[in-house]
Amino acid sequence: CGIVAYIGKREAYPVVLKGLKRLEYRGYDSAGVAICNGEGLQVYKKKGKVSQLEEFVTGKNMHSHIAIGHTRWATHGEPSDRNAHPHYSSDSKLALVHNGIIENYAQLKQELIKKGHVFKSDTDTEVLIHFIEDIKNNNQCSLEEAVRIALKRVIGAYVIVIVDEDHPDTLIAARKGSPLVIGVGKGEHFLASDASPIVEYTKEVVYVNDYEIAIIKADELILKNISNEIQTPFIQKLDIELAAIEKGGYDHFMLKEIFEQPQTIFDSLRGRLDAKNGTLTLGGIREYAEVLSNANRIVIVACGTSWHAGLVAEYIIEEVCRIPVEVEYASEFRYRNPVIGQGDVIIAVSQSGETADTLVAIEAAKEKGAIILGICNVVGSSIARASHAGAYTHAGPEIGVASTKAFTAQLAVLTLVALKVATEKGSINEQRFQYLLNELEAVPEKVATALQLNDQIKAIAEKYKDARDFLYLGRGYNFPVALEGALKLKEISYIHAEGYPAAEMKHGPIALVDENLPVVFVATKDSYYEKIVSNIQEIKARKGKVIAIVTEGDETIPAMADDVIVVPEADELVAPMISVIPLQLLAYYIGVLKGFDVDKPRNLAKSVTVE
Ligand code: G6P
Repeated sequence: CGIVAYIGKREAYPVVLKGLKRLEYRGYDSAGVAICNGEGLQVYKKKGKVSQLEEFVTGKNMHSHIAIGHTRWATHGEPSDRNAHPHYSSDSKLALVHNGIIENYAQLKQELIKKGHVFKSDTDTEVLIHFIEDIKNNNQCSLEEAVRIALKRVIGAYVIVIVDEDHPDTLIAARKGSPLVIGVGKGEHFLASDASPIVEYTKEVVYVNDYEIAIIKADELILKNISNEIQTPFIQKLDIELAAIEKGGYDHFMLKEIFEQPQTIFDSLRGRLDAKNGTLTLGGIREYAEVLSNANRIVIVACGTSWHAGLVAEYIIEEVCRIPVEVEYASEFRYRNPVIGQGDVIIAVSQSGETADTLVAIEAAKEKGAIILGICNVVGSSIARASHAGAYTHAGPEIGVASTKAFTAQLAVLTLVALKVATEKGSINEQRFQYLLNELEAVPEKVATALQLNDQIKAIAEKYKDARDFLYLGRGYNFPVALEGALKLKEISYIHAEGYPAAEMKHGPIALVDENLPVVFVATKDSYYEKIVSNIQEIKARKGKVIAIVTEGDETIPAMADDVIVVPEADELVAPMISVIPLQLLAYYIGVLKGFDVDKPRNLAKSVTVE
């Protein structure tokens, strides 16, 4: 979910509405705002996207200098007007927006029902605001005090922002687990789940920490911890520009982000890789390079696309560092009582740096004595801050819900980490190190060449867009690329797609193959090449349609495939950053041709801050 709030001299509603549009990638099944003016507290909420809320309030008196807003990704209760935020107290004087989950809401709800509270929605959020109201009334205390008491009893993760009709000059906010950024302006404050709604107004921000409560007026920001002790706000400078969060002439953010990759990969290598001088610097892990090189094993935890980047990294790290690597879905890792101890290094990979499953997983591992390395894209994010050390991917804000440029940036940075550890450990000789630095440095240009396939891929998308299923196959370094290609297609075209190791295909998925099944082979020239040629023949023998990604100069596979996509030659360690490009484009064009909103695919959210 996304939260935006404003207090200050401007008209608050337009600021919040624009902010919600910027945060829509975090969830878009319903949206709402609350304002407070001479007519008291008013709450407007609507199922659907933020634009539907906007239509709904057109013509209404939205004048106010304070507002809170929310765009939702449903957890408790179906998407509906009723379940949309803000939720309000029974006397309708307090309105609350919430991101996260209140795990003990059922128990609290029972207690409140017994006291006579009546609920209008199915959400945990409504329970929370009634609970706060109840404490406030019973203890005759301030709202701030009531929030503090309530939060001591609440189990779960949250960011909340509350507006009170009786105090229209104050916002109360609190955080545990979910992100909250406060923008500090002149006589005004902006609150949001990430910096994108704030950047056009101010570059000065405060990241609220867990268990902190903020009391915010137009010209005053007070931060307190849960024990009511005043904390000094640490003001940081934002380093993103407005242009980075706008579409810049492209039809969709996703296409813009696909095309940004030559630059974003370059940015993730910049200042770190110097192939000419044969050096590699990674300031963020400098102090831990030795610990890493002495690690008993490395466990990579991540979700979604970031998990796929982790799989590629497993192959790379084992190859160059000779350290055993496991790659785990963060959610599974956390809850199966993993064997973790000193000498283990956890690498958390996350674009947003806010994914709840990943965050909770590293916190649990940290308690058991593991060293945590964070590979995040969003600077100052929760995972980055919870890690001992790390390296940012520097891909810039990624807005399209289906991840593209973050993936290639993660691969670039994970390769740098692997090479750094390998030199520290002495598991790579100088010649090979230099060769791989050169290969890595050449990637952005090869990605630019791969992007020239755009028109050809559009035509292939047209040809296969009506297929019911797709299979994606690859081996070795390209196996995770096949998984990622299938995930991209599923996410934005709603076509069922499966990624598989090409050889494993014969142990099951081969039963699906017939003349209607397109099979995408990621079959660039690498040490698995001969084997994958055999796999292609196995598909052709069963009349499957083969779309093959091959290396320039290959003559064998093009003679067998129905459609051939030629990418520049690269060493197998870095090839995934190039071979994934046509798969991103293929998914994009199929989604567009089918008429779907590729930037906001149904049911998904970019940053999943609930477990
Ligand atoms: C969500 C997004 C995916 C993303 C995953 C992990 O499911 O829709 O695109 O890969 O979360 O997100 P993270 O921010 O941790 O990389």
